Amino acid sequence: MKQIRQLGIIAHIAVIAGITLAFSSATFAAEIESSLARGGQLYDKWYKVIKAEKPKNTHPAWPAANTKKKGSTTWRCKSCHGWDYMGKDGAYASGSYDTGIKGINGMRGADPAKIVAIMKDKTHGFAGMMDEGDFQDLALFVSKGQEDMDKYIDRASKMPKGGDAARGEVYFNTLCAQCHAKDGSLPKDMDKTLGKQMGNPWEVMHKILEGQPGEQMPALRALDRQITLDLMAHLTTLPKEK
Ligand code: HEC
Ligand code: HEC
Repeated sequence: MKQIRQLGIIAHIAVIAGITLAFSSATFAAEIESSLARGGQLYDKWYKVIKAEKPKNTHPAWPAANTKKKGSTTWRCKSCHGWDYMGKDGAYASGSYDTGIKGINGMRGADPAKIVAIMKDKTHGFAGMMDEGDFQDLALFVSKGQEDMDKYIDRASKMPKGGDAARGEVYFNTLCAQCHAKDGSLPKDMDKTLGKQMGNPWEVMHKILEGQPGEQMPALRALDRQITLDLMAHLTTLPKEK
């Protein structure tokens, strides 16, 4: 009798252990948000994320007609394809990043292998500059991580659609102010205050969702987009000058 009971307990433990194992490995395998955020940071400034040397030359696909930018910045995905992922059809239709290059928005949902192949093609020439894990995260971001920013940001006014600044202030003061100060003026070496940075709300939204390359800043992409909208609404109220 006692033996049977012990066997029962052992079987019970085995079942629980099995479930726990299956559950934890399932959640582990299914979690792609951290890869998407890392892919988003690589899209922003891959050489900062992987601590590679900055490319010195200008990217061969950078159009000669654009003489406003040269050197390492022309190697960032965002410089050719935009913070809104729409390239010539988005915010980079004019200004210092006007290249006439299309966005990556047409590649939403595309097979990541196809996107990796594009990054390694003759136009891009990234083969050997990053490792396979980096290409995977980038491709995953292009395929599954891009937001439709027009859903969240009004293009004409550059204002977040439906953000609550009062709620955003609470989020900002508890999640962000330890690094950025309540007025958005820190860290010291940041060239513009976060209030001023709202002149480019697409960049701000990208950074809030994916994080800042090479920094300890968290990525909020796993949280509800409303939190990002509330934060952006608050940022528009912060001082524009230091
Ligand atoms: C110097 C400019 C430049 C940079 C930097 C650049 N690209 Fe591109 N990209 C292009 C051009 C030009 C095309 C269009 C090629 C064509 O249509 O023949 C393109 C096309 C693409 C496409 C296909 C879009 C479509 O709908 O056909 C994807 C995806 C892409 N790039 C991803 C990336 C990623 C990811 C990075 C960063 C690792 C990157 N690109 C960096 C210039 C650039
Ligand atoms: C652990 C510190 C840390 C936390 C927490 C943090 N950030 Fe940052 N953030 C940084 C650093 C460092 C930079 C890079 C500053 C620079 O450009 O010199 C940065 C950059 C940014 C930028 C881009 C500014 C630019 O000039 O491109 C935005 C926008 C931003 N943070 C918003 C936020 C928001 C919103 C939060 C809260 C949800 C937050 N950050 C939390 C450290 C942090």
